[in-house]
Amino acid sequence: MRTIIITGGAGFIGSHVVRLFVNKYPDYKIINLDKLTYAGNLANLKDIEHKPNYKFVKMDICDFRGVLKLMKDESVDGIIHLAAESHVDRSIKDPFTFAQTNVMGTLSLLQAAKAYWEALPEKYEGKRFYHISTDEVYGALQMTHPEGIEPPFTTKASSGTHHLAYGDKFFTEDLKYQPHSPYSAAKASSDHFVRAFHDTFGIPTIVTNCSNNYGPYQFPEKLIPLFINNIRHRKPLPVYGKGENVRDWLYVEDHARAIDLIFHKGTVAETYNIGGFNEWKNIDIIKVLINTVDRHLGRPEGADMDLITYVTDRAGHDLRYAIDSTKLQRELGWEPSLQFEEGIEKTVCWYLDNQYWLDNVTSGDYQKYYDNMYKNR
Ligand code: NAD
Ligand code: DAU
Repeated sequence: MRTIIITGGAGFIGSHVVRLFVNKYPDYKIINLDKLTYAGNLANLKDIEHKPNYKFVKMDICDFRGVLKLMKDESVDGIIHLAAESHVDRSIKDPFTFAQTNVMGTLSLLQAAKAYWEALPEKYEGKRFYHISTDEVYGALQMTHPEGIEPPFTTKASSGTHHLAYGDKFFTEDLKYQPHSPYSAAKASSDHFVRAFHDTFGIPTIVTNCSNNYGPYQFPEKLIPLFINNIRHRKPLPVYGKGENVRDWLYVEDHARAIDLIFHKGTVAETYNIGGFNEWKNIDIIKVLINTVDRHLGRPEGADMDLITYVTDRAGHDLRYAIDSTKLQRELGWEPSLQFEEGIEKTVCWYLDNQYWLDNVTSGDYQKYYDNMYKNR
């Protein structure tokens, strides 16, 4: 029997992690601790909300006393921490909220875990504080042309895998942090606090840094769900700058599987990078999305290319992200299960089949779900 708090479980990635743990570990108690900001949506967990090993607690991670009480009341022995403000564009408009939640919220969880665990007879034995971070803390990579070859070119990871890349440098775990946006600066700061709590107090921590996730239940402010929705409704597709920026995409369920593996088998105090060896220029992904949505809606493929609208670039827009996840592959045997083409097909189909979910989110109705489900219990 283990009791685990998953923070941010009503969000995009968190909901996939909660679902995986609730279904895979019936003898664990999974507590979803979430403040339900605009990004939290309990409808993401409709299929598991009545399971006996699942509990939802509406709480702000910054509420140190609340978290400490919950940990004591429930004898919590693990925390998987995903709660965060996660959207770069919002962080440019409102950095304070990002510092508050991502930095102070993480610190509040660490302090609560320390206070509760260190007072137990067994102290930190069998305990785990797993912090989910991002590849954006490493900054931006260049598009390089080794031996004059125009990117993308085929390259070989140290694991032996061949893949297409836009440069010959990758984010490895030992790289210096160089965050550029208020979002990634706040995430970087929270990563430092997590490591400091291991080094100073001996809390059994793990940090992972993952690349861009895509898949069902992602809030439609992020590139892929926003553009699928806009293509469906024939609304303009706002492409930042020239659409040349490169991101490394991973299907969200593959990230959740990695989190499960690392939570159980990862080495304390280690960092693991998680990524798909799957680099795409934004404009190329956007064309794939247009073709795929058009095909599924019975429109001629490419009919909606004229929706592409180049707009002012994002301030401080990182040029290229590319994760080297060799360490995770080599040490724990994880690798992505889905090819990108397959993942995008599944994702487009999910959003088109679940238009009610998108409509609820875009209308704001999803925020009534908590009131209906939980408040009157
Ligand atoms: P999301 O924005 O979809 O969800 C965040 C969740 O956290 C929401 O349910 C929200 O209600 C909750 N939350 C926010 N502030 C809170 C607070 N103060 N107290 C309690 N709950 C709060 O985010 P996501 O995209 O699922 O990202 C989850 C985590 O993974 C984040 O830490 C993010 O930095 C990291 N990450 C995301 C990606 C990605 O591509 N989305 C990639 C790598 C890492
Ligand atoms: O790399 C991991 C990160 O990926 C996570 O840590 C973040 O939480 C997550 O939001 C994501 O950050 P990005 O900024 O890369 O994701 P976003 O979907 O916002 O944008 C992807 C790319 O598309 C980026 O280069 C900006 C561009 N873009 C985005 C939007 C929303 C556009 O051109 N137009 C848009 O309207």
